[in-house]
Amino acid sequence: MTAKLSGIPETLLIPLWARAVEGEEPDPIVRDDKAAEMVRQIEYDFAKFAKARLSQLGVAIRTMLLDRATSDFLRRNPDGVVVNLGAGLDTRRHRLGVETDWYEPDLAESLELRRRFFEETDRYRFLTASVFDTEWMEKVDDAGRPVLLIAEGLCIVRLPFIRSRIAPRIARLRFEQSTEGGDES
Ligand SMILES: C[S@@+](CC[C@H](N)C(=O)[O-])C[C@H]1O[C@@H](n2cnc3c(N)ncnc32)[C@H](O)[C@@H]1O
Repeated sequence: MTAKLSGIPETLLIPLWARAVEGEEPDPIVRDDKAAEMVRQIEYDFAKFAKARLSQLGVAIRTMLLDRATSDFLRRNPDGVVVNLGAGLDTRRHRLGVETDWYEPDLAESLELRRRFFEETDRYRFLTASVFDTEWMEKVDDAGRPVLLIAEGLCIVRLPFIRSRIAPRIARLRFEQSTEGGDES
């Protein structure tokens, strides 16, 4: 399989690679066999990331923290809904083995790649959208249930104000009972 990506969507390969190689550590912070499988299947020069081991460690730690935050949210809200903004090729729903209602809004080019590896179901939906639009919000069927908004790695893609400005506004506009999760960068 060849991944012909450029610009912003290509950045989704970095956290994918980071989670995949973390599994090769003797005592991995996270284990992500599906990420490793995708790295094997995508024809791309992942070797060029090899020097970024510090970033790789950062992604592994961020992944672990957001996995925990998501598990905590679902423990406290078994009927909660997860919205994973800019999901890229993230595998959190599979890693956590949950069946909860889960949405992954992302740009068309990224979702095109995602669809090669993941199948949508009634409870697992991909939304072609930019976080700067509002139409996607209406497609999230939360029915007043608590919503977890995750923006992992989205903030470092030249969008540092997503956490400080956009996520709170999404919460105010549409999801009254939301919780945010994302990186601090
Ligand atoms: C660095 S990747 C992170 C992917 C994933 N969250 C992860 O941790 O593996 C950034 C993702 O944000 C998406 N993205 C960038 N700008 C976006 C926007 N305006 N709206 C929605 N998604 C966006 C990209 O397509 C890509 O999937």
